[in-house]
Amino acid sequence: MNVIRFSDLIAAGRVAGQRVFIRADLNVPQDDAGNITEDTRIRASIPCIEQALKAGAAVMVTSHLGRPTEGEFKPADSLAPVAKRMAELLGREVKLVADWTGGVTVAPGELVLLENCRVNKGEKKNDEALAKKLAALCDIFVNDAFGTAHRAEATTYGIAQFAPIACAGPLLAAEIDAITQALATPTRPLIAIVAGSKVSTKLTILKALSDKVDGLIVGGGIANTFMLAAGLKIGKSLAEPDLVADARAVIDAMKARGAAVPIPVDVVVAKRFAADAEATVKAAADVADDDLILDIGPQTAALLAEQLKAAGTIVWNGPVGVFEFDAFAHGTETIARAIAASSAFSIAGGGDTLAAIAKYGIEKDVGYISTGGGAFLEILEGKTLPAIEILAKRAQEA
Ligand code: 3PG
Repeated sequence: MNVIRFSDLIAAGRVAGQRVFIRADLNVPQDDAGNITEDTRIRASIPCIEQALKAGAAVMVTSHLGRPTEGEFKPADSLAPVAKRMAELLGREVKLVADWTGGVTVAPGELVLLENCRVNKGEKKNDEALAKKLAALCDIFVNDAFGTAHRAEATTYGIAQFAPIACAGPLLAAEIDAITQALATPTRPLIAIVAGSKVSTKLTILKALSDKVDGLIVGGGIANTFMLAAGLKIGKSLAEPDLVADARAVIDAMKARGAAVPIPVDVVVAKRFAADAEATVKAAADVADDDLILDIGPQTAALLAEQLKAAGTIVWNGPVGVFEFDAFAHGTETIARAIAASSAFSIAGGGDTLAAIAKYGIEKDVGYISTGGGAFLEILEGKTLPAIEILAKRAQEA
């Protein structure tokens, strides 16, 4: 998609002395005491901020954190822990500014972090008056918040409509490039792994991918529904019988194109859902009425690993088993290690997937790890994300 890139504005010398408003996604997980438990998104936001400062801009950065009630700021909504972590990463002070929509004082070469933008009234509904106020704060709006690109809010959409210049920051641009490469012009075979508990939450993704991919590996509760569609028994396992016809349609669509949805040949079952439950490997045809399928079996995992090793491109969303429980982690670990060993360009996204990548320490072996959760899924669905769509529109008008 054709958007103005912040790096191009910098190269053209158009950023020095300008007021630059960066929308980042600093929505990071925190524990009950407010400590940040995972800081990928903060680390990913640093290059854009550093580039803006180096170019001599007066830099404002904001983000949402959680889903606060608009107009009712509570201490737990504060970006203060984010400011602290950002200051450590940048090696400079990061001043946190509250009540900022009416005006921000920041000089060229300085940086301020603007408090949780979702506390501003009108943010979620993309209120036009708020968007115009935000746009008036800056000369250049930079959207670097890929994780929030599926939301049309005042700091992701409205401000981009009204700011003098609206462009994509390096993180947003890298995400667009990586996902476009993976889906639009993939090196084949293109294999997608779509796993998770419910077909219903990922049906549109499965349908969209069934048109594009050479292999569609399903896992978790999704695989159980596909096993039902293939005529197999799944005992008490999590599944959505109502969606068997949809699963069948995906299998048929793939088959018609000469592609396949590999159905597990063996599974790991237990009698109860617990970390200490006894794990038993069974052929897929032997699942008993009181069995719960909690992972793919070793033979299935080995077959899938072979396919992944031979892939040209891999898109990964979702662990294939209950990998949080060691006895049911083998399938996900095998998939993760096969992706890491494959020479394919691999792209991974989604909260659980990132947790699996971290657990097996394969970060460096994955081609691209997306910072998007919902945004990554919507791109896989083939949707144009609103925050990217408005940047493309502005680029056309420029
Ligand atoms: C995310 O964590 O996926 C993004 O930050 C978007 O957050 P939201 O779902 O609250 O809009």
